[in-house]
Amino acid sequence: MNSLEELYQELILEHNQYPRNFGVLESPTHKARGLNPLCGDEINLYLIVEDGKIKDIKFQGQGCAISKASASMMTEIVKGKTVEEALDLYKKFHDMVTADFTEEINTEQLGPVAVFSGVRAFPARVKCASLAWHALEAALTGKEEYSE
Ligand code: FES
Repeated sequence: MNSLEELYQELILEHNQYPRNFGVLESPTHKARGLNPLCGDEINLYLIVEDGKIKDIKFQGQGCAISKASASMMTEIVKGKTVEEALDLYKKFHDMVTADFTEEINTEQLGPVAVFSGVRAFPARVKCASLAWHALEAALTGKEEYSE
Protein backbone atom coordinates (compact mmCIF):
# COMPACT_ATOMS: atom_id res chain seq x y z
CA MET A 1 0.00 0.00 0.00
CA ASN A 2 1.46 3.41 -0.90
CA SER A 3 1.33 6.41 1.42
CA LEU A 4 -1.68 8.03 -0.32
CA GLU A 5 -3.66 4.79 0.06
CA GLU A 6 -2.69 4.58 3.72
CA LEU A 7 -3.71 8.19 4.31
CA TYR A 8 -6.99 7.51 2.48
CA GLN A 9 -7.76 4.53 4.74
CA GLU A 10 -6.88 6.48 7.87
CA LEU A 11 -8.95 9.54 6.95
CA ILE A 12 -11.98 7.48 5.90
CA LEU A 13 -11.94 5.55 9.18
CA GLU A 14 -11.37 8.63 11.30
CA HIS A 15 -14.00 10.86 9.64
CA ASN A 16 -16.50 8.01 9.54
CA GLN A 17 -16.10 7.45 13.26
CA TYR A 18 -15.95 11.13 14.23
CA PRO A 19 -17.74 13.07 11.47
CA ARG A 20 -17.24 16.84 11.56
CA ASN A 21 -20.19 19.19 11.21
CA PHE A 22 -22.66 16.34 11.64
CA GLY A 23 -26.21 17.42 12.48
CA VAL A 24 -28.97 19.77 11.40
CA LEU A 25 -28.99 23.57 11.19
CA GLU A 26 -32.28 25.00 12.43
CA SER A 27 -32.69 27.92 10.03
CA PRO A 28 -30.57 27.21 6.96
CA THR A 29 -30.47 29.70 4.12
CA HIS A 30 -29.68 26.84 1.73
CA LYS A 31 -30.29 23.11 1.87
CA ALA A 32 -30.35 20.08 -0.38
CA ARG A 33 -30.86 16.36 -0.27
CA GLY A 34 -28.50 14.12 -2.19
CA LEU A 35 -29.64 10.61 -3.04
CA ASN A 36 -27.56 7.76 -4.38
CA PRO A 37 -30.12 5.58 -6.19
CA LEU A 38 -27.60 2.73 -6.50
CA CYS A 39 -27.80 2.02 -2.78
CA GLY A 40 -30.59 4.28 -1.47
CA ASP A 41 -28.22 6.23 0.77
CA GLU A 42 -28.85 9.92 1.23
CA ILE A 43 -27.27 13.00 2.67
CA ASN A 44 -29.08 16.12 3.77
CA LEU A 45 -27.02 19.26 3.72
CA TYR A 46 -27.78 22.53 5.53
CA LEU A 47 -25.94 25.81 5.04
CA ILE A 48 -26.00 29.33 6.36
CA VAL A 49 -24.69 31.71 3.73
CA GLU A 50 -24.13 35.31 4.74
CA ASP A 51 -22.58 38.06 2.62
CA GLY A 52 -21.70 35.47 -0.02
CA LYS A 53 -19.78 33.29 2.46
CA ILE A 54 -20.56 29.89 3.93
CA LYS A 55 -20.82 30.80 7.59
CA ASP A 56 -21.98 27.38 8.76
CA ILE A 57 -22.63 23.97 7.23
CA LYS A 58 -23.88 20.65 8.60
CA PHE A 59 -24.89 17.33 7.15
CA GLN A 60 -26.94 14.38 8.24
CA GLY A 61 -27.92 11.12 6.63
CA GLN A 62 -27.42 7.46 5.99
CA GLY A 63 -24.42 6.34 4.06
CA CYS A 64 -21.36 4.18 3.76
CA ALA A 65 -18.03 5.10 5.34
CA ILE A 66 -16.78 6.74 2.14
CA SER A 67 -19.85 8.95 1.70
CA LYS A 68 -19.84 9.97 5.35
CA ALA A 69 -16.11 10.69 5.44
CA SER A 70 -16.33 12.62 2.18
CA ALA A 71 -19.24 14.70 3.52
CA SER A 72 -17.34 15.40 6.73
CA MET A 73 -14.19 16.50 4.88
CA MET A 74 -16.19 18.53 2.35
CA THR A 75 -17.89 20.51 5.13
CA GLU A 76 -14.50 21.24 6.69
CA ILE A 77 -12.96 22.52 3.48
CA VAL A 78 -15.86 24.73 2.34
CA LYS A 79 -16.75 26.30 5.70
CA GLY A 80 -15.72 29.95 5.59
CA LYS A 81 -15.29 29.96 1.80
CA THR A 82 -17.27 32.16 -0.55
CA VAL A 83 -20.02 30.54 -2.63
CA GLU A 84 -17.84 30.96 -5.74
CA GLU A 85 -14.86 29.31 -4.06
CA ALA A 86 -17.04 26.41 -2.86
CA LEU A 87 -18.49 25.89 -6.35
CA ASP A 88 -14.98 25.98 -7.78
CA LEU A 89 -13.89 23.29 -5.28
CA TYR A 90 -16.96 21.24 -6.25
CA LYS A 91 -15.88 21.43 -9.88
CA LYS A 92 -12.27 20.50 -9.05
CA PHE A 93 -13.41 17.57 -6.90
CA HIS A 94 -15.80 16.38 -9.62
CA ASP A 95 -13.09 16.66 -12.29
CA MET A 96 -10.67 14.75 -10.05
CA VAL A 97 -12.94 11.75 -9.34
CA THR A 98 -14.21 11.47 -12.92
CA ALA A 99 -10.81 11.82 -14.64
CA ASP A 100 -9.29 8.82 -16.33
CA PHE A 101 -7.37 6.73 -13.81
CA THR A 102 -4.14 7.04 -15.76
CA GLU A 103 -4.39 10.84 -15.99
CA GLU A 104 -2.10 13.05 -13.89
CA ILE A 105 -4.30 15.42 -11.91
CA ASN A 106 -3.60 18.62 -10.10
CA THR A 107 -4.91 18.18 -6.56
CA GLU A 108 -3.14 21.20 -5.09
CA GLN A 109 -6.18 23.25 -4.05
CA LEU A 110 -8.14 20.29 -2.78
CA GLY A 111 -6.03 19.76 0.34
CA PRO A 112 -6.89 16.59 2.28
CA VAL A 113 -9.91 15.76 0.06
CA ALA A 114 -7.37 14.90 -2.68
CA VAL A 115 -7.12 11.46 -1.00
CA PHE A 116 -10.34 10.61 -2.85
CA SER A 117 -8.50 10.64 -6.19
CA GLY A 118 -8.11 6.84 -5.81
CA VAL A 119 -11.87 6.22 -6.16
CA ARG A 120 -11.50 6.86 -9.91
CA ALA A 121 -10.68 3.18 -10.25
CA PHE A 122 -14.03 2.15 -8.71
CA PRO A 123 -17.03 3.73 -10.52
CA ALA A 124 -19.57 2.79 -7.83
CA ARG A 125 -17.38 4.43 -5.21
CA VAL A 126 -17.20 7.64 -7.23
CA LYS A 127 -20.90 8.11 -6.47
CA CYS A 128 -20.27 7.55 -2.74
CA ALA A 129 -17.44 10.08 -2.63
CA SER A 130 -19.35 12.62 -4.73
CA LEU A 131 -22.72 12.48 -2.98
CA ALA A 132 -22.16 15.31 -0.51
CA TRP A 133 -20.40 17.43 -3.15
CA HIS A 134 -23.35 17.13 -5.52
CA ALA A 135 -25.68 18.07 -2.66
CA LEU A 136 -23.47 21.11 -2.03
CA GLU A 137 -23.72 22.21 -5.65
CA ALA A 138 -27.51 21.62 -5.61
CA ALA A 139 -27.92 23.67 -2.42
CA LEU A 140 -25.80 26.58 -3.65
CA THR A 141 -27.48 26.72 -7.05
CA GLY A 142 -31.01 26.42 -5.69
CA LYS A 143 -31.74 22.88 -6.92
CA GLU A 144 -32.83 21.66 -3.44
CA GLU A 145 -32.57 17.99 -4.37
CA TYR A 146 -29.95 16.01 -6.17
CA SER A 147 -30.13 12.45 -7.42
CA GLU A 148 -27.48 10.79 -9.61
FE1 FES B 1 -24.35 4.16 -0.55
FE2 FES B 1 -21.76 4.55 -0.62
S1 FES B 1 -22.79 2.63 -0.65
S2 FES B 1 -23.30 6.06 -0.63
